[in-house]
Amino acid sequence: MVKLMINGRAIEAKEGMTVLQAAQEAGITIPTLCDHPDLESFGGCRLCVVDVKGWRTPMASCTLPVNEGMVVETHSPAIEKSRKTILELFMSNYHDSGYENGQKEETQFMHWVKHYGLDVEKSMAAAPHYTVDSDANPFVFVDLNKCIQCTRCVRACADIQGRFVWSMAERGFNTHPVAGADTDMLDARCESCGACVAYCPTGALDNKMSLGAGVPDKLVMTTCTYCGVGCQFELNVKDGKVIRVTSTEKAPVNGNHLCVKGRYGYDFIHHPERLVKPMVRRYLLEGKKPVVSDQSSVTSGPWDWVETEWEKALDIVADKFADTRTKFGADSMGFLTSAKCLNEENYLMNKLARQVIGTNNIDHCARL
Ligand code: SF4
Ligand code: SF4
Ligand code: FES
Repeated sequence: MVKLMINGRAIEAKEGMTVLQAAQEAGITIPTLCDHPDLESFGGCRLCVVDVKGWRTPMASCTLPVNEGMVVETHSPAIEKSRKTILELFMSNYHDSGYENGQKEETQFMHWVKHYGLDVEKSMAAAPHYTVDSDANPFVFVDLNKCIQCTRCVRACADIQGRFVWSMAERGFNTHPVAGADTDMLDARCESCGACVAYCPTGALDNKMSLGAGVPDKLVMTTCTYCGVGCQFELNVKDGKVIRVTSTEKAPVNGNHLCVKGRYGYDFIHHPERLVKPMVRRYLLEGKKPVVSDQSSVTSGPWDWVETEWEKALDIVADKFADTRTKFGADSMGFLTSAKCLNEENYLMNKLARQVIGTNNIDHCARL
């Protein structure tokens, strides 16, 4: 352990920790923007600077390792003034065009801008200098007028998703992220996982499907229904409808990360064509199989799909299973189970296939 002083308090920190981590462990909040615990430290925004006794210039605490005997001041008047100046510089190159993104909480950047007393309207750039919604990606909304060049998108895409879509181009005032060789995100091998959106602290990258959807009434933590990994996320619910999915560090399996299905594949929930009751062909309810003389006739009359009750539908399936097994043998049948089911339900399907029907023809969609 390393002993140091932060704001007059004696602190012990593990060797190799940064001053920022040591302060956070001691319950001291140092403002940050480019830093994120899931990403390699970058030290670019300088919002986390601190004074270290005996050192001439303030140091970025997110890249500064703790040292024995170090004396650190995190909120001296000079440091606070420097943070405010940094935020003013960011704001001079920031423009909000006024679209409604409806996030429940303000962005990390806006939080610090307001915390340091900046007037958003007065301090932001008078006009956008990039095209708003500049990328054709169907899920990721790009507005680089809100970008502060923190590179969290670059690191999230490279280090977490492993797609290396984003990099930084140009210099100084014009520095900005570009996808691939300054092409579209999808051309640059983007998988639309939304990790860059989740880690962007300003809303320069946002969820296209949720713009204008409003602010959720509640967040409901749940488990993804798509595959067997079991990622968790928060459903943003407004007036009983899911308007957005947000990842959260509280999720034990996946943390802030999700794939495109978990983050953006939620429109089936309220889709007007979603099946909410079992459906069977009409003739199965009437008990008489019609003769198919003409393929077009399968779309109407006795071949219509009609809603029925679960008991009836399951009786029909059980009769068909028994009939098929008797006529063609157990191995004429196959069972495909689902990652949307519980382990116990999949176990029961295995029992049904092997023990009740008598076939080993069983597989699971998570293998596809
Ligand atoms: S959506 Fe995912 S794959 Fe695409 S650029 Fe962002 S992080 Fe990379
Ligand atoms: S787009 Fe967002 S995450 Fe990427 S550099 Fe800009 S502000 Fe940072
Ligand atoms: S958070 Fe430390 S330099 Fe940005």
